[in-house]
Amino acid sequence: MDWILCIILNSIRSKPNYKASISYELVRFPDYNNISLVFGLSNANIKDKVLVLSTKSSEFTYFPLGHRRSSCYLAFYIFLNTMTYSYYSQVFKGEKMPFAYIDKDLLDTNIKDILQRSGDKKIRIASKSIRCRWALDYILSQSEQLQGIMCYTAEEAAWLAEEGFDDLLVAYPTFHQEQVRSIIPALKSGKTIYLMTDLNEHLEQLNRIAQDEDVQIPICLDMDMTSRLPGIYFGVYRSSVHNLSDTRRFLDQLQKCKHLRLGALMGYEAQIAGLGDNVKGKALMNGIIRQLKKKSIREIAKRRKAMYDLVLEYGHQPEVVNGGGTGSLESTREEDSVTEVTVGSGFFASHLFDNYKVFKHLPAAGYAIEIVRKPQNHIYTCLGGGYVASGPFGMDKVPHPHLPTGAELVKDEMAGEVQTPIIYKGNEELRLGNPIFMRHSKAGELCKHFKELLVVSEGRITNRVPSYRGEGHCFL
Ligand SMILES: Cc1ncc(COP(=O)(O)O)c(C=O)c1O
Repeated sequence: MDWILCIILNSIRSKPNYKASISYELVRFPDYNNISLVFGLSNANIKDKVLVLSTKSSEFTYFPLGHRRSSCYLAFYIFLNTMTYSYYSQVFKGEKMPFAYIDKDLLDTNIKDILQRSGDKKIRIASKSIRCRWALDYILSQSEQLQGIMCYTAEEAAWLAEEGFDDLLVAYPTFHQEQVRSIIPALKSGKTIYLMTDLNEHLEQLNRIAQDEDVQIPICLDMDMTSRLPGIYFGVYRSSVHNLSDTRRFLDQLQKCKHLRLGALMGYEAQIAGLGDNVKGKALMNGIIRQLKKKSIREIAKRRKAMYDLVLEYGHQPEVVNGGGTGSLESTREEDSVTEVTVGSGFFASHLFDNYKVFKHLPAAGYAIEIVRKPQNHIYTCLGGGYVASGPFGMDKVPHPHLPTGAELVKDEMAGEVQTPIIYKGNEELRLGNPIFMRHSKAGELCKHFKELLVVSEGRITNRVPSYRGEGHCFL
């Protein structure tokens, strides 16, 4: 019988009075079709670490716990976290590599966790982090709390509208008139697409085209949520509307634009949502970032509310007040003026999102590359693999080997365009033609590179779905 043993380490060592009530659960391993015994531990503390021992691949791994959970749920969480190399190897046996996959069982757990993390707020899905119509549809279908898509271009929104989606908020400005005009048919057919604005030029351009097309364009005001702390610009360079006087300037200009309707407000606090505060080996920096985040959260909550109140004073009644991202749900959900949060990356949980203290999602998407060379003992060189993320370059933007556990990149080569050498000294016997399973960094790059995603559930491939790219689309 295969088994997993989970032992809570910290709590037993550091708290002499701690009562670790040990229970066990029966969990079925889909790949072996038998029953495995899992020891779950109730009362696990958020800071506790769990030592997981699995007889399957002689692996042992530490997992920090993301949440306080019941023993059953904890056992399941750990079970899901230990989807092993042999499990995926068996599921994908015979598949041509490289290929990308979604683990639907892990995605389901992530969706449940995200619903819980979002409190009573609606959740808009950030399509830039998904880029697959099937996945958008599937996630939306899981709860009424999931509602609407945050698109990254107007042409994408127009296409999604044609494909049956509605309530589409384009999160970045659209200026070129051809792109603005691309949404007009959808608007005329009754779909809602909001275009993002913050400058007078945006308003003038959109109003001119709307007048010409004889429609009213719903717009969204991008409220800048950076925090200007002493000596630090904490945030990203996006919107010009930072304070009440900027908001007034915007609203005064809007009054002259009879063909625009302010239907939505958005404030994205990138410095909270997109900045990890639990990066391995960076204890000092993590501490500083957490302190900055704390200050920033307080400051932006006040500012967002004040800007929202001013918008109401001008007589607008936006139906959407959007905020946050995967990394900020715990704080964004606390703001009363916010009607919805945005989540994209958290569904696939690419590895950049392992670096947050208050939540942990499961690796629900990744890709496999094939071992085609063995230049030295313990070095396995795979074909392709270099799907690196955008943003400031660094190790955190590089894909990481996921399985087998213990596989590592070669520091001087990393993940390359045509080959990716992997160092592996574990017990798994790796041969030419075997896969190495990789996790990408940000969420969007997977579907930028792959045309198809294999959907896996309970030990088998249940579907093969096209990415945007597979349907002939790129958008950005
Ligand atoms: C406007 C906006 N909202 C929300 C997000 C959050 O997306 P994710 O959940 O994928 O981090 C992003 C990401 O860049 C964004 O640009």
